[in-house]
Amino acid sequence: MKTAIYSTTSEDIGLAAEVIAGGGLVAFPTETVYGLGADAMNPEAVAAVYAAKGRPSDNPMIVHIAEQSDLARLTARITEDMKLLMNAMWPGPLTMVVPKSAQVPDRTTGGLDTVAVRMPDNDVALKLIAMSGCPIAAPSANLSGKPSPTRADDVINDMDGRIEGIIRGEDCQVGIESTVVDMTGDTPVILRPGIITAEQLEEALGKPVEYDKALFGKETDEDFKPKSPGMKYKHYAPEAEMIIVSGSRANVEHEIDRIRELKEAEGLKVGVILFEEDGFEEAAHDLFADLRDMDKAGVDLIVAGALDTDDQRGFAVMNRMIRSAGHNIVKV
Ligand code: TXA
Ligand code: MG
Repeated sequence: MKTAIYSTTSEDIGLAAEVIAGGGLVAFPTETVYGLGADAMNPEAVAAVYAAKGRPSDNPMIVHIAEQSDLARLTARITEDMKLLMNAMWPGPLTMVVPKSAQVPDRTTGGLDTVAVRMPDNDVALKLIAMSGCPIAAPSANLSGKPSPTRADDVINDMDGRIEGIIRGEDCQVGIESTVVDMTGDTPVILRPGIITAEQLEEALGKPVEYDKALFGKETDEDFKPKSPGMKYKHYAPEAEMIIVSGSRANVEHEIDRIRELKEAEGLKVGVILFEEDGFEEAAHDLFADLRDMDKAGVDLIVAGALDTDDQRGFAVMNRMIRSAGHNIVKV
């Protein structure tokens, strides 16, 4: 398949919207990561997304809307809590899991009776959704298992020849995927941490929010049954082997140097990822791009310093970094 590369002019977004409306696939920028979009109400188009990503087909997708009023078509019940979060956070990197309406195809939700919805904070994405005339189902636009793409070139790298089009937008500002919060119970539950924190949700709602217990376990634990099905697949992995070093800053720096010297002496190419101690937003912005750049540079081993998980944004970045490294962590 020849993949069209679109610019962000209204004319080009219009062409991309026609592709989506016709059941085709177009990758597009959002503020978090690039998405691989299809008409959320068209089961064949959604099935093609799974095929293009090489992704298991029971994994549900996030449905992207351009206006709050678009939500009415996707869910039968809009609660006061949902309204509070929409008003406080949308457009923005927050996805709400809500009861799905009969109109939303099972293909889109992986057979669940809930649907995940968000309004992205990106003008190109919002225009594309509005011009397509349909909500857009979009997982991250990477091949399954790889780090999410935060730059147009990363999308082209993974998806060229596999989908109808790619909109070449700017680099994503946030860099990790949206916070996913389950709004179906009395207490909202964060299924996937992101740059929007529990604290911010609690402030908007005026009540407590919980984290899904599965976020604190390992995929290999027997009782690991995450509510967010995407959490159980191999994820975010670079080609290189990766190890995370956790501990006091001085110990971490010392251990990273030690590993680097040792492995370089063995003839390996070593890449180091060490963010500023309080640079959580920069870490979110850079992590996936750094992993992809190191693969491109032919790095054999990536050694990364752990972030402070007492900070909720640090916890969100570590949620990705730990799976990138396949739970390969040393404590010093
Ligand atoms: O920032 C983002 O959310 C990006 C951009 C493109 O919007 N999208 C994204 O999609 O990260 P994806 O498919 O890579 O991740 C969707 C996550 C998965 O963990 C999935 O299991 C969860 O959302 N999810 C989707 N629908 C769900 C549902 N009905 N119930 C629980 N979890 C759901
Ligand atoms: Mg993804």
